[in-house]
Amino acid sequence: ADGRLADRLGRPLRDLRISVTDRCNFRCSYCMPKEVFDKNYPYLPHASLLSFEEITRLARQFVAHGVRKIRLTGGEPLLRKNIEVLVEQLAQLRTLDGQPLDLTLTTNGSLLARKARALKAAGLQRVTVSLDGLDDAVFRRMNDVDFPVAEVLAGIEAAKDAGLGPIKINMVVKRGTNEHEILPMARHFRGSGHVLRFIEYMDVGATNGWRMNEVLPSADVVSLVHAQMPLRALEPAAPGETAERWAYQDGSGEIGVISSVTQAFCGDCNRARLSTEGQLYLCLFATQGHDLRSLIRGNATDEQLASAIGHIWQGRADRYSQLRSQLPPDTNPGGRKRVEMSYIGG
Ligand code: GTP
Ligand code: 5AD
Ligand code: SF4
Ligand code: SF4
Repeated sequence: ADGRLADRLGRPLRDLRISVTDRCNFRCSYCMPKEVFDKNYPYLPHASLLSFEEITRLARQFVAHGVRKIRLTGGEPLLRKNIEVLVEQLAQLRTLDGQPLDLTLTTNGSLLARKARALKAAGLQRVTVSLDGLDDAVFRRMNDVDFPVAEVLAGIEAAKDAGLGPIKINMVVKRGTNEHEILPMARHFRGSGHVLRFIEYMDVGATNGWRMNEVLPSADVVSLVHAQMPLRALEPAAPGETAERWAYQDGSGEIGVISSVTQAFCGDCNRARLSTEGQLYLCLFATQGHDLRSLIRGNATDEQLASAIGHIWQGRADRYSQLRSQLPPDTNPGGRKRVEMSYIGG
């Protein structure tokens, strides 16, 4: 592998998102609605999860193909037992130019106060924390397990104190549910050094009952914030980024908007996803993965693993959000077959 791998649309492989568990202690309705993810839901049995050694071995082959950033996701990644041991293994990997990876994790923050120091010590560089509002009642309703906002804020503080900053805060905006939290969130995180990102509610998975009329376009979010706290557009930090960046004109920091619905960013999407059980997915909205676990458990050599990953990436033509935006608003391509975000990793 020489790191110059490109898919059928000429896109390199740069970013690997690894889901380490399909479980979560929250039940956000846009992701794991209670009615579906109840006590009878068929979560993966322990034996089908990739072990830390298997994950690290696969990750090494992805890095040999040019991956520079690894993000651990879930479900809730901090629910995976001894996750800091995996972080420590991944932190040893080096990019093709001999640099440490951009090693990060997306969490709901509920266990962060307890784990931040160990994660930092293991070599995690930064974290992204999901938070959908500052109002305690709104937040408890959105996580749907009555989890208090104060504990997530304490987790964010603990991560900052542990040196895991600058921290990104992800807020999924649902029209009619938490749009009134946009300005309070912006005011709260402005000047904190953290970067708040507003995410358009996406039609991911097959269970959240997504409707276009619950999407608040990012353009509206930007105007709303701009009217109170003037903004100016920033250049992207890296090609293929999810977020469009905006700075406060008075120098008090920046925000981002992630507009998967109204402004698809498939054009230079360089992200691969490894599911909890070792399926390689080429798109967040894919209906099928490529089984790497049977290769690894079938005694494939490193060369064979690397070559399989290379071939799979070279066959990639996925650009779901782009195609989606050309269809009428409430059609649902892929429909019930689409995999859940809690399984594939956001
Ligand atoms: P940074 O590198 O820190 O900017 O993180 P990120 O934006 O790549 O990842 P994060 O986990 O914070 O994801 C933010 C939001 O973007 C989540 O809602 C993700 O589901 C969504 N997202 C991430 N990657 C993709 C993608 O490739 N396609 C789509 N449609 N959405 C994505
Ligand atoms: N639409 C947009 N974002 C979502 N996330 C989970 N489900 C959805 C959805 N349907 C977000 C989480 C987390 C990130 C990884 O993905 O809130 O911040
Ligand atoms: Fe859990 Fe995150 Fe999904 Fe909410 S969005 S249910 S916190 S994995
Ligand atoms: Fe990449 Fe698929 Fe998201 Fe488009 S929809 S940005 S191809 S993951």
